[in-house]
Amino acid sequence: MIKIRDDEFQYLVGYLKGNFGINLTQKRVLLDGRMGGYLAQQGYQSYSDYIKVLQADKTGKELQILLNRVTTNHTYFMREPEHFDFFGKIVLPYLEQTVPSRDLRIWCAASSSGEEPYTLAMILHDYFGHKSPAWDKVLLATDISQKVLDMAKQGIYPEESIEKIPEAWKRKYFRKVPDGGVQVVDSIRSQVVYRLFNLMDPIRYKKPYHVVFCRNVMIYFDAPTKAAVVERLYDAMAPGGYLFIGHTESIARPTRFNYIMPSVYQKGV
Ligand SMILES: C[S@@+](CC[C@H](N)C(=O)[O-])C[C@H]1O[C@@H](n2cnc3c(N)ncnc32)[C@H](O)[C@@H]1O
Repeated sequence: MIKIRDDEFQYLVGYLKGNFGINLTQKRVLLDGRMGGYLAQQGYQSYSDYIKVLQADKTGKELQILLNRVTTNHTYFMREPEHFDFFGKIVLPYLEQTVPSRDLRIWCAASSSGEEPYTLAMILHDYFGHKSPAWDKVLLATDISQKVLDMAKQGIYPEESIEKIPEAWKRKYFRKVPDGGVQVVDSIRSQVVYRLFNLMDPIRYKKPYHVVFCRNVMIYFDAPTKAAVVERLYDAMAPGGYLFIGHTESIARPTRFNYIMPSVYQKGV
């Protein structure tokens, strides 16, 4: 197994932090643990050799392998369920009243393997019901790791992972797959558009978002990076739009967002 040297560690930490916000300054063992075996298996003699290849690789393939390995993609269905409750009971009725154009744009900005955006799609489906055709709904889900986006598109999960999901949803929105596990039904999967997106990049949008879920990703960023992401999200949101962050996260004050309740914010109207 190849061990990372101080200068190599400093380089990779700076590279990941500068380009992707991922702060591994205190995570040397994690970085080495996730990359050392891969480097040895690929026949690299040192991290320096690997870094040269990473720098020269114009295809982005090496970078994706790095990102797939160093990101923490932990997520699960019904994580922080109060948010989903608030979304269905407060946010959707509010948007139904206040968006006369009937086009809703919802963005799940660090969607990992899809559990979070599919939950939002199920809530939307239940909420709009027969009114659905009258509403144009865009549910965008993005992440920096292509590996988790590919898993999300498949929408296949172990059966245990949907234990906390209401029975009615299990019946309506999941089907068993032959090799074991369950798959989100096509009518829900087709509601979610998956894209690779780095939260460090400028946010391009045709029309601003009414709801942004950006949960449990900014914990990996340092304070200035997080503040800059929050500013960009604010600018990309419609007046009255709601921002959800993780329960253990908060937005530094002063902020242009109005505080609604822990980990829920709203852009002023
Ligand atoms: C812990 S998961 C959170 C998933 C889900 N939002 C939740 O709360 O369960 C964090 C995700 O953020 C993604 N991520 C990390 N840095 C990112 C960045 N700069 N831009 C976009 N996504 C990023 C990771 O790939 C990972 O899938």
